[in-house]
Amino acid sequence: MAATTSIHGMWTSRMAFILAASGSAVGLGNVWRFPYTAGEYGGGAFVLVYLLCVGAIGIPIMMAEIMLGRRGRQSPINTMRTLAQREGRHPAWQLMGWMGILTGFLILSFYSVIAGWTMAYAVRSASGVFVGIDRAGSDAIFGALVGDAERLLAWHTIFMALCVFVVARGVASGLEKSVRFLMPALFLLLVLMVAYAFSTGSFAEGARYLFAPDFDALSAEGVLSAMGQAFFSLSLGMGAIMIYGSYLRSDASIGASSLIIAGMDTLVAILAGLAIFPILFANGMQPEQGPGLVFKVLPIAFGNMPGGVLFSTLFFVLLMLAAWTSGISLLEPMVAWLVENRSFSRVRATVLAGMSVWLLGIACLLSLNQWSDVTIFGKGFLDLLDFLTANILLPVGGLLIAIFAGWMLSRAASADELAMGKGFAYRAWRVLIRYVSPAAVAFVLFHAIGLF
Ligand code: TRP
Repeated sequence: MAATTSIHGMWTSRMAFILAASGSAVGLGNVWRFPYTAGEYGGGAFVLVYLLCVGAIGIPIMMAEIMLGRRGRQSPINTMRTLAQREGRHPAWQLMGWMGILTGFLILSFYSVIAGWTMAYAVRSASGVFVGIDRAGSDAIFGALVGDAERLLAWHTIFMALCVFVVARGVASGLEKSVRFLMPALFLLLVLMVAYAFSTGSFAEGARYLFAPDFDALSAEGVLSAMGQAFFSLSLGMGAIMIYGSYLRSDASIGASSLIIAGMDTLVAILAGLAIFPILFANGMQPEQGPGLVFKVLPIAFGNMPGGVLFSTLFFVLLMLAAWTSGISLLEPMVAWLVENRSFSRVRATVLAGMSVWLLGIACLLSLNQWSDVTIFGKGFLDLLDFLTANILLPVGGLLIAIFAGWMLSRAASADELAMGKGFAYRAWRVLIRYVSPAAVAFVLFHAIGLF
């Protein structure tokens, strides 16, 4: 008999799950990563491929992850072990859970460093240094922060401590309340930024950049990165959404929840793009700025709008909170496994996992300054982790999830868990998860082999 609850706790309602999963999905991926990768790969065509990936790959795989999590009700490793056993499949499927935990570990190590930037920027906003700032000034502030290893270390440490604090108490308590206020507030501020972008006179140029596809600008690497961005932004492919699904009550609809979560996540990314690119063009900046893009562009806008000090402080605080609700979902699978298999207390498990991530994060932040001349495949350590996790590890994880959910799990099991009836919706999901998503992911990954 399958478990109906998890030993790690349960969401109090379906709404709580949607809030928590959206809290995981909406984060730096939308506001920091989406604009900068879209800018690296030429805009419109990248965005189009990204949207296609969200629909044809992301949503079906999100449903699969929630479904597997809820059927297994344990950390991704033990969920995969249990389900493989129950379905008479090879025990090696649990390796997928291991890979997910490793991927979450690697992502959080650099994610925390970038989240540190948002905190540093909140403080700078409040102190008024952005008022009346120009391009050179904004570049200088960013350069000074990134070049200062000690400062980065301090913020990285604070962010990891915040993640450890929440996860140690259990994700189901407290998270719900914070996300309920956070998401609407972040949304409102983004709308305000789009309104400001509208007033710059370059709105049309920015919107054209984002939505008019120019396929000449899109390389194989661009397609790979658009797919990777979809996985990263939706928190898919490493078991974060799987473990959140394991805390979901059995009677809640998985299909509808997935559509809401993916819809919100995509909306936030598009709003961020619509805010950032017009401001960028209005100030004569280039879209190919790399990971510093939003941190260089936004202060110029905030510094020149009425109420900018208040709005920019609020904006970076909210972004940091959004990163926080994402960071905890990266830590949770690891912690749940330590509790299940090493019989650690939750607090001890979280501190241990958090400290390991923190150590690796130090290598990430040093790669921005002291070690900036050390490159692997032409990238610094932080950039390399960012590229490898989003574009390779998450898609491989997603591919395995799709194969397991579509081919290894019996039809009866998925039909029962998704509870969508036997009609069109279920059949559409099944075609997507068995054929479309795995073929698309495999095709894009295969084409990317030439990049190495
Ligand atoms: N989706 C989050 C963001 O956009 C980051 C994140 C949280 C994530 N959990 C994840 C990415 C799991 C990949 C896998 O900021």
